[in-house]
Amino acid sequence: MSTEGSPQSSSTKLTAYDIRARKGGAKLSMVSVYDFPFARLAEEAGIDILLVGDSLGMVVQGHDSTVPVTLNDVVYHTKAVRRGASRTHVVADLPFLTYHIDTGRAIESAGRLLQEGGADSVKLEGGQEIAERAAAIVRAGIPVMGHIGLTPQSAGALGGFKVQGRDVASARRILADAQAIADAGAYAVVLEVIPAELGGMITASVPIPTIGIGAGAACDGQVLVAHDMLGLQERIIGRFAKVYANVGDDVRRAFTSFAEEVRSGSFPDEEHSYSMAKDVLAQLRESSR
Ligand code: KIV
Repeated sequence: MSTEGSPQSSSTKLTAYDIRARKGGAKLSMVSVYDFPFARLAEEAGIDILLVGDSLGMVVQGHDSTVPVTLNDVVYHTKAVRRGASRTHVVADLPFLTYHIDTGRAIESAGRLLQEGGADSVKLEGGQEIAERAAAIVRAGIPVMGHIGLTPQSAGALGGFKVQGRDVASARRILADAQAIADAGAYAVVLEVIPAELGGMITASVPIPTIGIGAGAACDGQVLVAHDMLGLQERIIGRFAKVYANVGDDVRRAFTSFAEEVRSGSFPDEEHSYSMAKDVLAQLRESSR
């Protein structure tokens, strides 16, 4: 844990308390990652927060929503991310129905992400309707990040993966959601796919950092899914998902070259093979006559 008031160094893991204190200060960067190598690369790059998002259901499991993701799935991926990034704050998603049924189950689910997965905090989706549940998890000593606006676990009820808060009534509801989540004791809140103006209003009105994804530049931080920003996705993603590299093209080229070289017999060559001492080979041939 960092000492209060001391500057944050890139080798010091941010706590939920530190993240909360960044409100209005240096902007926070967060990426969704699901495995050891990406976690290690993100930590080396100085990303502030790693999210083990339930987007893993769509990104690495190939589902068309996040609903099929289980708590065991998130625990499994959180363990891998933790091993890759011991010096970075890891927040793990509470999947669909792991915190809705009753308070006891919500605390137990959140506790598993910390105890078994090694997460530092948990994230849950929803606003006013889930605020009391979020408060109970916070009272159990587990830091909670909120997530409002477009909440993928309930995308069906929201009319699909589309921009939220474009009319007065829904914008007011999202503003009230942000306030309820802050009042519940959350240390930060993700704002997903809402107009930039509304992102700015929420950021100005709540005392906790807002971390935007398609929510405009005024937010206190930004989050992207690693596979989206690296060009590893075939599915259509919103315009918010800026592509910083086309790793997918490199991977496809590498697989194609490998397959061609295997077919032609040019791989493996001498450089990628092991040899045996000549006398050992002679003896072996002699003895197997
Ligand atoms: O699951 C996820 O990766 C997320 C981010 C898109 C915020 O919730």
